Amino acid sequence: MSGVRMIVLDTPEDVGRLAADLFEMEIAARPACVLGLATGSTPLPLYRELVARNKAGRIDFSRVRTFNLDEYEGLAPDHPQSYRRFMQENLFDHINIRPENTRVPDGLAADPEAMFAGYEREIGACGGIDLQLLGIGHDGHIGFNEPGDFFPPCTHDVTLTAQTREANKRFFASLDEVPLRAYTMGVGTVMAARKIVILITGADKADILQRAFFAPVTPQVPASVLQFHHDVTLICDRAAAGR
Ligand code: PGA
Repeated sequence: MSGVRMIVLDTPEDVGRLAADLFEMEIAARPACVLGLATGSTPLPLYRELVARNKAGRIDFSRVRTFNLDEYEGLAPDHPQSYRRFMQENLFDHINIRPENTRVPDGLAADPEAMFAGYEREIGACGGIDLQLLGIGHDGHIGFNEPGDFFPPCTHDVTLTAQTREANKRFFASLDEVPLRAYTMGVGTVMAARKIVILITGADKADILQRAFFAPVTPQVPASVLQFHHDVTLICDRAAAGR
């Protein structure tokens, strides 16, 4: 493992609390910072902690700007399974962030290529992402960058793997309802962030943690490229660190 700091804690709640400490420090140091945010089950303890700390007056989101990693293609912002809705329900609706300062790729974009270029332009116009939050898929994806022959540089559209659709079907009524495609920041977009925090919890992630951080870098395991970033903090629980 290279420039990656790995911290192993007992439980997913401990992982959420330590990640919240890093976000609290970032926002205290830079009240108008730019955060890259993620969806999924893994960041939920972190988001609960951020909501609690905002309510307690410890974290002020009034000047913070956020960019989410990804969104399902074809889902409206208010669709129950859209990532925009996920962010509203689990974080944005409960903190003092300005709605116009939160960005999620538009699942209904009429011109996706223009939306991708605009997303990248907007991140650049904000000065780039200061702190990027990541989870990891069982196939090693970050955002929705699935295993492939190269590392996609910019925001783009992807065909989801069968494994990813299977993993995410728990949120939908059936597998058939899980979209086939999605929009995601590129691996290059993620790697341009100044700092990266990746959270990995659960025994089912032990194998991919080992392949991503203790094996050679390969686009077949997209998260492995994080070994080449200069400031990555990997926070995991004991179950995920099992390998
Ligand atoms: P999870 O998703 O946190 O729900 O496991 C992670 C991911 O797919 O990136």
